[in-house]
Amino acid sequence: MLNPEIEKKIDELLSKMTLHEKLGQLNQQSNEHGMEAENREMLKNGEIGSFICNTGHFGPTDGNPAHNNRKYVNELQKIAVEESRLGIPVLYGKDVIHGHNVVFPIPLAMAAGFDPDLVRDAYTAISEEAANDGIRWSFSPMMDLSRDPRWGRCVEGYGEDPYLGSKMAAAAVEGFQGDDLSRRENLAACAKHYIGYGAMEGGRDYQKSELSDYALRNYYLPAFKSAVDAGLRTVMSSFNEISGEPTTSSHYLLTELLRDELGFDGFVVSDYNSVLQLKKQGVAETNADAARMSVSAGVDMDMADRCYLRNLEKEVAEGRLDESIVDEAVRRVLRVKFELGLFENPYVHYEEADIDAHKALALRAAEQGMVLLKNKNGALPLSESEPVGFTGDFLKETWRMFGAWTLDGVNEWANTLEEAVRKNFPEAKANFSHANNLIDRYDGVMESDTVVLALGGHPEGEASGLATLEIPEDQKALIKKARMSAKKLVGVFFYGRPMALGEVEPLFDAILWCWHSGTMTADAAANILYGKTNPSGRLPMSFPRVTGQIPIYYNCTPSCRNVDEYYPKEPFMYKNYRDTTGAPLYPFGHGLSYTAFEYSDVSFDKTELSPEEINGGKCFEVSVKVKNTGDRTGDEVVQCYIRDKVASMMRPLRQLEGFERITLAPGEEKTVTFRLGLGELGFYGKNGKFAAEKGDFTVFIGGSSYAPEVGKVTII
Ligand code: GLC
Repeated sequence: MLNPEIEKKIDELLSKMTLHEKLGQLNQQSNEHGMEAENREMLKNGEIGSFICNTGHFGPTDGNPAHNNRKYVNELQKIAVEESRLGIPVLYGKDVIHGHNVVFPIPLAMAAGFDPDLVRDAYTAISEEAANDGIRWSFSPMMDLSRDPRWGRCVEGYGEDPYLGSKMAAAAVEGFQGDDLSRRENLAACAKHYIGYGAMEGGRDYQKSELSDYALRNYYLPAFKSAVDAGLRTVMSSFNEISGEPTTSSHYLLTELLRDELGFDGFVVSDYNSVLQLKKQGVAETNADAARMSVSAGVDMDMADRCYLRNLEKEVAEGRLDESIVDEAVRRVLRVKFELGLFENPYVHYEEADIDAHKALALRAAEQGMVLLKNKNGALPLSESEPVGFTGDFLKETWRMFGAWTLDGVNEWANTLEEAVRKNFPEAKANFSHANNLIDRYDGVMESDTVVLALGGHPEGEASGLATLEIPEDQKALIKKARMSAKKLVGVFFYGRPMALGEVEPLFDAILWCWHSGTMTADAAANILYGKTNPSGRLPMSFPRVTGQIPIYYNCTPSCRNVDEYYPKEPFMYKNYRDTTGAPLYPFGHGLSYTAFEYSDVSFDKTELSPEEINGGKCFEVSVKVKNTGDRTGDEVVQCYIRDKVASMMRPLRQLEGFERITLAPGEEKTVTFRLGLGELGFYGKNGKFAAEKGDFTVFIGGSSYAPEVGKVTII
């Protein structure tokens, strides 16, 4: 709902603006070294509406908060506010993806926590720190659904499921924006990358996505819709094309779908240079064509290439672009600036953030996201009296555990795994090997019966695709060497993306997947290894056995034949592959605990509803009792899946439509109830309309996507 007061102020301001000043508001500039003098001049001329603060003076690239940039931000803001003709404040934006000085787990790891409330709290804390540095707009949350871990940017999103992605996206938007965007510590969120970027063919960044409207609406759109419904104020268009049309020049995607259908009323920013890139994509002949096509499609602000500022004045003057399109774009940008309170409070108002509280929250997020993939014969947790040899290339690591896009992370605040074990478990009988190269490092721990291998990979993110997901040969060699003498072999992995562990998985007694979990990664891993914390993470993406299985994802549609597909069953007549199975190594939603949970007493409040009742808001309620039958407190992520058995289009074998993280003491039992209504049972049909169709819906409830069938409901 728009604020009439703000709209009135925009009308007044717009009426005074020259076309050149309007285009200035649509120009987002970087501040690379060497551009400072020119930028000051442009600010005076009203030619910069926003700065991207990732580098240069703005970014304390050494991550030291003492090198903050608020002084510099205020200095440039003063020029805009006091020296330009209309005094319109500048909006400072940055990639605050999963932390500022205190780094939280990568978004994929936060999704593994299945805890939207914690994600909301995390982004509230993150916003406080970023706002102290003068940032009031974050180019996040990234919500590109991805089924392909070859694509390095899968770590920036929430995995392969639209329901989980929707819950996480809404939580992040609410965390950034708070309940009053004008408060100094709140940031405008930016849903990116709109849209279909995660469907990159081959996991090759900046390439092509081939998506039907049916797939787009049912898998890739829900998170964006959820973000818009949560009050989202900005969107970033994506680099990719969808079936021949670049998103940056798609009026259907940016205006008809995003605005007219979803009701988004904030502003759209291009991705970096993606306006000019329309020429590279072969749909624009000149820079002017690119600028005109993009703003006409619905991209309001042009990131970094000055294409709007340099070309649209002539396009309007010569009648190829109606100025009303420029006015509408400027209106949206000014709307968010007014909502942020920038006109009343343009300068950074610094208030010390509670860094210790943020670290404690980051530790909880890291612990909740780590996934115990395997634990044969209770190999974990380790006891402090058990002699353990630690080695591996991530034993002395800090920065690479932070993950992608950690522009302001403070390295000194992080422990290595060795430091975390020594500090948090001083009584533990642990020794640490530090030979130079990986295979020699093993020598220092040869005599230990229990060996822990800390292995990991470089932070992923943009332009970091991998054609193979098997772990590096030197890590494999170390694993095989350790297996020859260790009685108990534990793998602790620090990769941001799922890897193909099919070859090495059998060699381990236990595998703990730690992702890249930010400042507190090592402390969280040590706490789980030694049992201070009971692991509770669940996989937001399927883990393949081998790279060649990709894309492999749990919400796949049924095969036309009896094959050994994602959900193993016996007997089957056909095999998906000759050289492996069609099932993942670990399915979506999978994760082990140090305790055990028992499900019982499933009940439905009703099993039939009419279409009118469903469309009128009625829903089915299914309840289940969950009991902790083990000897220690633990969290269970209770998951509810459905299958629309027969519909006008093919529907997935399972689709997550509810989850709840619950904490149970030994012997404690709780009842969890899921509501299944139009939002959960409906889908976008062939006609692009969202509806729930008549028929049976099978319901599955349990601790992963392999949950058992518990009954069915019917729309009669
Ligand atoms: C990059 C990324 C985008 C980021 C933007 C600004 O190319 O695609 O996610 O927000 O540019 O850094």
